[in-house]
Amino acid sequence: MAVYECNNTFRDFLRELPKCEHHLHLEGTLEPDLLYPLARRNNVKLPEQFPKTVEELENRYKQFKDLQDFLDFYYIGCEVLLQEEDFFDLAWAYFKRSRSQGLKHAEVFFDPQSHTSRGISIETVVKGFQRACIKAQQELQISSKLIMCLLRHLPVEDCKATLESARVLFETQQLHGLGLDSAEKPFPPELFTECYETARSYHPDIKLTAHAGEEGDASYVLKSLDLLKTSRIDHGVRSAEDPELMARLAREQIMCTICPLSSVKLQVVQDVRELPFAQFLDAGIPFSINSDDPAYFGGYILDNYVAVQTRFNWTLNVWKKVVQQSVNGSWCEEKRKKELL
Ligand code: HPA
Ligand code: ZN
Repeated sequence: MAVYECNNTFRDFLRELPKCEHHLHLEGTLEPDLLYPLARRNNVKLPEQFPKTVEELENRYKQFKDLQDFLDFYYIGCEVLLQEEDFFDLAWAYFKRSRSQGLKHAEVFFDPQSHTSRGISIETVVKGFQRACIKAQQELQISSKLIMCLLRHLPVEDCKATLESARVLFETQQLHGLGLDSAEKPFPPELFTECYETARSYHPDIKLTAHAGEEGDASYVLKSLDLLKTSRIDHGVRSAEDPELMARLAREQIMCTICPLSSVKLQVVQDVRELPFAQFLDAGIPFSINSDDPAYFGGYILDNYVAVQTRFNWTLNVWKKVVQQSVNGSWCEEKRKKELL
């Protein structure tokens, strides 16, 4: 595994930047040292083959073969989350840890289907997360928004039912946006056109995003824009393979939420230096830098900023621009954006 470290002065500079995170799966913040205690607290029996200690699990997380290899662990991890308190503890641990890395605003994903499929109500999940969000605002001055994701590997009917069960949460803007995650390639965007149409009917201000162009090629990004009508793309790094799409992302100012350490750990690229940051900057495509599933990929938001700096050596001016576009592309109120800048 490559080392991504920069000098302390630069790390301090990056820590102080008003960082916004737009691509973070709350279930992906489940550190091994919380997973085992939660399994014990809830009497959850982990599969026979599952690593038995924190150390063994951390070792297993050092490299994933691909997205699916990671997802197999991610969904087992979800199984230790049962009570409202578990969801609260999980999210609160994320906010505390990220505060120490200079996080100011977070738009966070969660996957209700990985819990409702085990008999847990969506209200239990959302209440636990909401309590952590409120506490993060009050005690850590971190603002946040919740984005519900649909699991694209599950039947579309299941996704439709999940949307329906969350209707009131969207209508009351307790949920701010809709996303699409899990295995990308066998489950292209067009399967979810109707789901996104339904979500748009729930609230005129609902925000839409989708994972695309991580595992799938540039056509997944294009179809997310055209069919799902997303105003943001999660990952989107393979857009660089299509010059016309790049021009469109710039023209329409579509923010791509790039996750450097994730892309290396999932072998989308072999090194952070291969990510198309220079092409995005040159083309004028807004992007943000995010941690995705920090407990699995070995780094929170600042670690991802540092990884980029070790490879691209940006000037202070470039960082200023990157931070500005990250704040401006956030789905928070204008007043909050002004505070952040
Ligand atoms: N990609 C797709 N689905 C996911 C991810 C990811 O990085 N993390 C959690 N679900
Ligand atoms: Zn993701």
